[in-house]
Amino acid sequence: MQMHNFNSGPSILPKEVLEQAATAIHDFNNTGLSILEIGHRTAWFVDVLDEARAIVKHLMQLDDSYDVLFLHGGATTQFMQIPMNLLDDGETAAYCDNGIWGAKAIKEANLFGKALVVASSKDRKHSYIPKDFTVPADCKYLHITSNNTVEGTQWHEFPATDVPLIADMSSDIFHRPLNFKQFILIYAGAQKNMGAAGVNIVVVKKDILGKIKRPIPAIMDYRNHIEANSLLNTPPVFAIYVSMLTLRWIVKQGGLAEMEKRSRQRADLFYNTLDALPLFKPMVAKEDRSLMNVTFSIEDKQLEDAFLEACKANGMVGVKGYRTVGGLRVSMYNALPLSSVQAICDLMTEFQRKNG
Ligand SMILES: Cc1ncc(COP(=O)(O)O)c(C=O)c1O
Repeated sequence: MQMHNFNSGPSILPKEVLEQAATAIHDFNNTGLSILEIGHRTAWFVDVLDEARAIVKHLMQLDDSYDVLFLHGGATTQFMQIPMNLLDDGETAAYCDNGIWGAKAIKEANLFGKALVVASSKDRKHSYIPKDFTVPADCKYLHITSNNTVEGTQWHEFPATDVPLIADMSSDIFHRPLNFKQFILIYAGAQKNMGAAGVNIVVVKKDILGKIKRPIPAIMDYRNHIEANSLLNTPPVFAIYVSMLTLRWIVKQGGLAEMEKRSRQRADLFYNTLDALPLFKPMVAKEDRSLMNVTFSIEDKQLEDAFLEACKANGMVGVKGYRTVGGLRVSMYNALPLSSVQAICDLMTEFQRKNG
């Protein structure tokens, strides 16, 4: 059966990336060795790291005032590593509370300084992105989650503020061109738009580091990773390799402009279908809809279960909503073909015809 992968992460990767990764497990670049067997300090792997870093800088159009790190621990580690490196005791950083992941980041920041919530959408179950809010000028930074994977909202325009901006882009990195220089730090777990689970990318403006008094454990200090070229200790070699292949794939497809075009095609098709079928109820404000994760529901829970069964029968995986939110969710990352979106739209249309 042809599968349609709507998983929210780990999620669909380009077929050719999977094929190249599979080949490299047996024979990496005709070395006669597996990518899993080579040392991380060999020229072979350093080339992989260098290429991945160069592509990120090229896609983001960043100069040498930024560095690109490939670190362990997933995006969740960044929730604490950022304030540990940037926020001294008694200092304040601004946070937007727009979803489950942002809320976790706030909790961690409060361990190191004060996380001031300057905008929240908690009053309506995080179903929108707050627009009019101010950020006190003395905040060290403003942290946002650019795309709320669980709730299905996305920042289409970033807050206009003089306070330096930090973004968790775990679920929408590299799906559109942006002025990446408006951020002092960007981070993302790789397992959605960038590769395999096990590595996260941290893009950091170097001159923001080294400004706090707190001693930082060596492995948590961004400066040590910059100095060591992401080779401070054994990095997640295979996950970095898959990211490099996915980054290469993005470039080959036409870069971020092409990724945005495809994202919009998928989103237009899906949301137009959703809006035309009264059985299916969208969960978030129209203007804040995510191009990556669509959240919706069917009021009658028995029918919702029946729809999930129909998805399963048609090879569609990952359609059940997040465990604390319920409902349905369709994730449409870079590697998802438009034909998969068409397939689920056809199924929904047929389901409405039979049950509406
Ligand atoms: C927006 C966002 N931030 C952070 C995380 C946590 O990432 P990780 O599991 O890599 O720590 C996720 C996971 O889905 C996410 O979607």
